[in-house]
Amino acid sequence: MPETQDLIAIKNLEVALNSPRGPVYAVRDINMKVQPAEIHGIVGESGCGKTMTAKSIMRLNNEKTTLYQGNILFEGTDLLQLKAREMTRVRGKDIGMIFQDPMQALNPLRTVGSQIAEAMTIHGFDKQTAKARVIELLEAVGIHPPERRAKQYPFEMSGGQMQRVMIAMAIACSPKLLIADEPTTALDVTVQAQILELLVELQQSRNMSVLIITHNFGVIAEICHFVSVMYAGIIVESGKVGEIFHDPRHPYTRDLIASIPQSGPGMHERLISIPGAPPDLRQLIIGCPYAGRCRYTQQRCYEQKPEVRDASDSHRFTCLRDVAEFAEEDARVERSGSPASIDEVGPEGGVGDE
Ligand SMILES: Nc1ncnc2c1ncn2[C@@H]1O[C@H](COP(=O)(O)OP(=O)(O)OP(=O)(O)O)[C@@H](O)[C@H]1O
Ligand code: SF4
Ligand SMILES: [Mg+2]
Repeated sequence: MPETQDLIAIKNLEVALNSPRGPVYAVRDINMKVQPAEIHGIVGESGCGKTMTAKSIMRLNNEKTTLYQGNILFEGTDLLQLKAREMTRVRGKDIGMIFQDPMQALNPLRTVGSQIAEAMTIHGFDKQTAKARVIELLEAVGIHPPERRAKQYPFEMSGGQMQRVMIAMAIACSPKLLIADEPTTALDVTVQAQILELLVELQQSRNMSVLIITHNFGVIAEICHFVSVMYAGIIVESGKVGEIFHDPRHPYTRDLIASIPQSGPGMHERLISIPGAPPDLRQLIIGCPYAGRCRYTQQRCYEQKPEVRDASDSHRFTCLRDVAEFAEEDARVERSGSPASIDEVGPEGGVGDE
């Protein structure tokens, strides 16, 4: 395969936010790449920095109260160095983004057609071309009949249809990257599956990359090629989805996988349930951020920061211990009859078939 340039290369990114209660170190030295035509998932519990990472790529944080360090290269250009005006051109044109709640992003007083058209005219499309393209876009995202629907207002649409409209707006200028932040969380299960299917279809037909953010490893298994697992502002493990599911090296990844519902209609509904809570991101963390919640914690985990280790060319993780030791400990716990620390499914139980 010929070597391709990374579409996105995030290098040593740190994002700190000033809040009334002191600085929040929301993203702490992350490295991540998104390749052309890849569906890359970021997965992790609430508050671990997923949205902050996405908003940093789009430079959507309040720049007066946010301090960035590191680089976010988009086709080699550092987005963090662009002037605000230059960034406006990237946003929407090169990179599109959709959010969890389309209702908040759409203007209730304007027809969906005019809002999609505006997403194009602000990037230089003439009005006639934009109008014609609205119909094509609505068709592409499965809104029928597009001519009639273009004249409707957001309140005349269901949650799933509004999310489709948001997707149409985000892809209107044919971006190379679509960022989808929990795009299905607010939707019911059947509609969630349809929206995920639509994202895959659009990714393939338009050859774009998708960066999807989710708290649900089930979504990762269904549609992603590559996954970055985030915890407490860092990426604790990353790799091809097959590698991560079949050979997870970090206990947090193992716990997330174990908390996927095995099957059935609740597939996307349940939240992750790992006992305990992530650390407060206002504090500096010495040692491993998962120490204290991890069932394999040793004293040194509180004292020593785990370095990034390679499990393969594409698979990286940050844990001081080895999986072979985990297996021994699990076997010991099983022999002694002590309960495992995950309530519902044992670490080997919920992996499921890909
Ligand atoms: N504007 C803000 N000011 C101060 N702290 C913030 C702000 N926005 C987010 N944070 C904090 O930054 C951290 C990361 O937040 P982020 O929104 O990225 O989490 P997340 O992983 O997307 O969570 P969720 O799954 O709930 O959306 C959290 O601790 C959050 O409280
Ligand atoms: S370094 Fe220690 S606490 Fe952290 S994940 Fe590994 S075993 Fe668990
Ligand atoms: Mg979020």
